[in-house]
Amino acid sequence: MKRFAVIGQPIAHSLSPRIHRAFAEQTDIALSYEAIEVAPEALAGQLAQWHREAWSGLNVTLPHKTAVPAACVDCSERARVAEAVNTLCHLDNGWYGDNTDGEGLLRDLVDNLDVAVANQRILVLGAGGAARGILLPLLQRRPAELVLSNRTPWKPEAIAEAMAEHGRIRPSTHLALKGDRFDLVINAMSVGHSGHFPRLPEGLFDEGAVAYDLSYGAAHAPFAACARAQGAAVVHDGLGMLVEQAAVSFQLWNAVLPRTDALIATLRAESRSTAV
Ligand code: ATR
Repeated sequence: MKRFAVIGQPIAHSLSPRIHRAFAEQTDIALSYEAIEVAPEALAGQLAQWHREAWSGLNVTLPHKTAVPAACVDCSERARVAEAVNTLCHLDNGWYGDNTDGEGLLRDLVDNLDVAVANQRILVLGAGGAARGILLPLLQRRPAELVLSNRTPWKPEAIAEAMAEHGRIRPSTHLALKGDRFDLVINAMSVGHSGHFPRLPEGLFDEGAVAYDLSYGAAHAPFAACARAQGAAVVHDGLGMLVEQAAVSFQLWNAVLPRTDALIATLRAESRSTAV
């Protein structure tokens, strides 16, 4: 039986085991998938051990996504550009690193939610690891404009420069967005449960504009409140992206792309019924 796991710290609340086991059942593939807590100092040794034990693949989550590329013998272009890996595939000579976050976002936005990306004015809020993972796939869909805004100004400037060969990103601070209008605003800030969403200038959402949050569950509330107050026409959380990035990882490992619609609906219904 093929062995898989998601590794991170903390990891107990990860939905990945549930998602991958559902995919395995749906596609009739025999596999095991666990959630394993790994401390940063144990990461390199654990990865080497799981490779020796012939584990088939791993998902990687916080805080390891940016440390794992150094432990790979090779990485996909999208993982190299993101400087982050969320999926490891077993090769004979070591781990191959990939990043399915951006494709997961695009599959949810474009295929599930029917949100346009091509020729749209897009704002990404936040310039950490989560933002880096989605920029290349967004640029590849040829938006009219892609603005990257962050509290700390040098981060979007450095990313825009590093990614210049892939397309134009306009770096900004949140306050410097005054007067700009967007069709799609994506939140990639990890403001989390603190609830202190940064102040954004009024009028960022043009008529009919869509808000999409990479966060889901309780962590989605601060951006949802901000987007609604700003007049966003629709507000989406990142639950669909979570399932879609998992589906792309599953396909890399098992050569079958699972269906996602029923699982997203189930998880969404559960998150509504447990929301406070
Ligand atoms: P992740 O991997 O989740 O992206 P990260 O790399 O630590 O985590 O990045 C967190 C992002 O959220 C950054 O863009 C951070 O802004 P700074 O670069 O200025 O630190 C942003 N962020 C987190 N809390 C924030 C807050 N209270 N106000 C504004 N931005 C915040």
